Amino acid sequence: MNNVILIGFMGTGKTTVGKALAARLNWPHLDLDQYIAEREKRSIADIFASEGEARFRQIESELLAEVLQSGKQVITTGGGVVLRRQNVLAMQAGGLVIALKAAPEEIIRRVSTDQGRPLLAGDVTERVHRLLAERAGMYDFAPLQVDTTGRDIEEIVDEIMTKMTEQTDFRGE
Ligand code: S3P
Repeated sequence: MNNVILIGFMGTGKTTVGKALAARLNWPHLDLDQYIAEREKRSIADIFASEGEARFRQIESELLAEVLQSGKQVITTGGGVVLRRQNVLAMQAGGLVIALKAAPEEIIRRVSTDQGRPLLAGDVTERVHRLLAERAGMYDFAPLQVDTTGRDIEEIVDEIMTKMTEQTDFRGE
């Protein structure tokens, strides 16, 4: 499938960049977390609180596989989608995977204003550093890596568009 799939740690800008990229490509944008919440009729935080992370991961894998049945969409994912090997394989088969990254201080600044992330409850700085260490290298399989630290959206989208056209194995048509 010829989707564009954005992965990356929480707070790296996936949803914001995904929206702008979809507008530029004139493709629909599908945010997997938002889709999960719609389908489950409850928030991600509610799923974690009532059924735990393992159940969330199961739903996440099922709905990822479902949305990858279609093409020509910009799909943005939750930061933990890379934890399951089956998701990585599904994304590799489903389109061009682009990893966004950002400096830890910027991630902390961006996520600090938002209460919707159950894995960051408590000491945000400590949680971000711990999870970044646990997930070190897990986003590296993406052929495109884009740093969003201190950059504006249009500049990031320009870089992605340029890099995408350089990808010989990607045809958006
Ligand atoms: C998670 C990231 C969140 C959301 C859930 C778990 C993670 O998405 O899927 O809270 O494990 O990194 P964002 O990356 O969009 O914050």
